[in-house]
Amino acid sequence: MDEVPPDAAAADALVLFPSTNLRYLTGYTEEPGERHFLLFVTADADPVFLVPELSGEQVRAESVVDDVRTWADDEDPVAAVESVLAELGLAGDDRDDRDADDAPPHVLVDDAMHARFTQDLRRALPSATWGLASEVLADLRVVKDDAEIAALRRAGEAADAVVRELRRDGDDLVGTTEAELATHIEERLVANGGTGVSFETIVGSGPNGAMPHHTHGDRTVEAGDPVVLDFGTRVDGYPSDQTRTLVFGDDSPPEGFREVHRVVREAQDAAVEAVEPGVTTGAVDAAAREVIEEAGYGEAFIHRTGHGVGLDVHEEPYVVADGERELEPGMVFSVEPGIYLSGEFGVRIEDLVVVTDDGCVRLNRTDRDWRTD
Ligand code: CO
Repeated sequence: MDEVPPDAAAADALVLFPSTNLRYLTGYTEEPGERHFLLFVTADADPVFLVPELSGEQVRAESVVDDVRTWADDEDPVAAVESVLAELGLAGDDRDDRDADDAPPHVLVDDAMHARFTQDLRRALPSATWGLASEVLADLRVVKDDAEIAALRRAGEAADAVVRELRRDGDDLVGTTEAELATHIEERLVANGGTGVSFETIVGSGPNGAMPHHTHGDRTVEAGDPVVLDFGTRVDGYPSDQTRTLVFGDDSPPEGFREVHRVVREAQDAAVEAVEPGVTTGAVDAAAREVIEEAGYGEAFIHRTGHGVGLDVHEEPYVVADGERELEPGMVFSVEPGIYLSGEFGVRIEDLVVVTDDGCVRLNRTDRDWRTD
């Protein structure tokens, strides 16, 4: 007989690892490492943070969790994990007293937890059933509150400021390499109030622009090259993600570029126009895709129309063909159709939008034309 997995809401415990889920719930940021660094959340008891001794003081100061336990480098972290699990009634002798029905616990683990830690949990809870933290957290994270939207807006403003500088300085940028231009962009993002980059900066010049995830290389940007510029930074942990496709210098862009850029721009406008509460992600994708297909470039639009943006640059909701998720006020996602002509050039135009009660507002407000000043 097949076992029916319990539904997420009936989970007995959530175990998190250094991740954006952990940051979302506790306010604490940590790089994932080789040491056991776990947060245990159950319905009946206060959350327990089990962290390496060297992190104890910092976690107590910076997280909202009161019960912070530590293990030292000369101790066995697995024994510490087992003792927390027993205390929370998930394993060991306490369990029989807590659960009259004696059903095995259903445990949700962080989607980003390294396998070595999930294996320790499996060994400690051999009869448990398992799910992913996102089963309960994705629906909380998908709708942004005012503070999150404010941070996303400020991150967008930092990226927009850099786009304006690139337009203004356009002709001076001819003759630089993609990598030099990426470094320049990254410096300017920080100068405009951002912290670091939210993903590896994309400077796709000429034929490199036809590869959507080309980052940057040693190709020199020539006058008349279309350049796909997709970059962002972070403010209070929240990222920006926007794309403009610009042409620097006085030379004409390649044949067909003007038409392709016009089609992408119309597709992007059509998709943004389609956004309102109750509309499905699939309908937003279709609004962009139809414009591109009708212009004859359907085969050259080789990715989904967008992705949700929050603490993760790619998260729910995904704006994908036939997507059934209905939009709600407070959701934030990218609208970024593109056309990629192999060996020639690519065009992508991307803004983040936040869904409002009757439509959406864009978090990126710079000109979407390809011409620079
Ligand atoms: Co994006």
